[in-house]
Amino acid sequence: MQAAGILGTGSYLPEKVVTNQDLEQVVDTSDEWITTRTGIKERRQARPDQATSDLCLEAARQALADANTGPEEIDLVIVATVTPDMMFPATACLVQDRLRASGAAAFDLEAGCSGFMYGLALASQMIATGSLRKALVIGAETFSRIINWEDRGTCVLFGDGAGAAVVGPVPEGLGVLSFYLGSDGEGGKWLYQPAGGSRLPASAETVAGRMHTIHMHGNEVFKYAVRVMEEASLTALSRCGLTPREVDFFVPHQANIRIVEAARKRLDIPPEKAFLNIHRCGNISSASIPLALDEASKAGRMHFGDTVLLAAFGAGFTWGAAVLKWAK
Ligand code: UT7
Repeated sequence: MQAAGILGTGSYLPEKVVTNQDLEQVVDTSDEWITTRTGIKERRQARPDQATSDLCLEAARQALADANTGPEEIDLVIVATVTPDMMFPATACLVQDRLRASGAAAFDLEAGCSGFMYGLALASQMIATGSLRKALVIGAETFSRIINWEDRGTCVLFGDGAGAAVVGPVPEGLGVLSFYLGSDGEGGKWLYQPAGGSRLPASAETVAGRMHTIHMHGNEVFKYAVRVMEEASLTALSRCGLTPREVDFFVPHQANIRIVEAARKRLDIPPEKAFLNIHRCGNISSASIPLALDEASKAGRMHFGDTVLLAAFGAGFTWGAAVLKWAK
């Protein structure tokens, strides 16, 4: 089996910053509530002319440059998103075209906030078995398009952005050591966008009822998330014979600072080993982990050979964790 790992990363955050004070003008909320309950101070918002594929493209170009890889070397483009440009064609195909990655297969992957973890697992396995050489795995969201700006329980949480990773062959002993993916569809009812699919196609009623926006029961998601982040991390670690003590750097999905902190404490990972950017970005779902990886890598927080633990959970419910020996 060929060892596979991350060869380069990239990310993109739209320029427009939406602060908690801005949201105080929109809904009945306060900077104090948002900060203490979520850790979020601000999030980014895409321009009206920017769709998810535009965000993908910025992050992907950076990741290719970082990996010293030309688009012609990419055999597969995966875009993990819950906010694609349109129902079809896949956002990944739009990205493949604009990157001129003419030799690449392309598809979208929908696994909520765990999407990047699913994409990384899939790409690394296809490289391991020799089915392909290099893949571009992107997580990107334009949540601002599906937010109900009258729902204070959700509109303060989510942001727009993208992160990308070039996944390819690495020397034996480096790269993805193990991963663990899971799901529990019973949790689907706690976090979903009701309309726009075959169950409830778009109609005047669905639009009037704001059924094309995020619907969430935050408490249910919260309880599940804390438990599953820990369990998924421990399972992925045990699959490569490691324990949390051997983790050099922890990159959790940035959903809520209380979820991240609870998971970190349960795993007994010291705070200086965990990455946090939720105060600046909010929850960007599938972009969260690749964006964090890119920021951490460029800030020199991860070093060659470090044991890096990634963990995410999200709508579905879905979850995923992976252990990497950082190969950059
Ligand atoms: O990536 C996966 C996606 N989702 C998540 O990760 C979300 C997970 N859940 C959470 O992060 C938390 O559940 C929330 C941040 C969404 C909510 O925090 P909470 O501590 O679970 O609050 P709550 O839903 O129990 O609400 C407590 C109170 C309620 O008021 P009452 O009924 O006690 O009077 C809410 O109406 O806080 C109120 N509230 C707000 N108040 C001010 C809810 N949202 C707001 C708000 N500003 N933005």
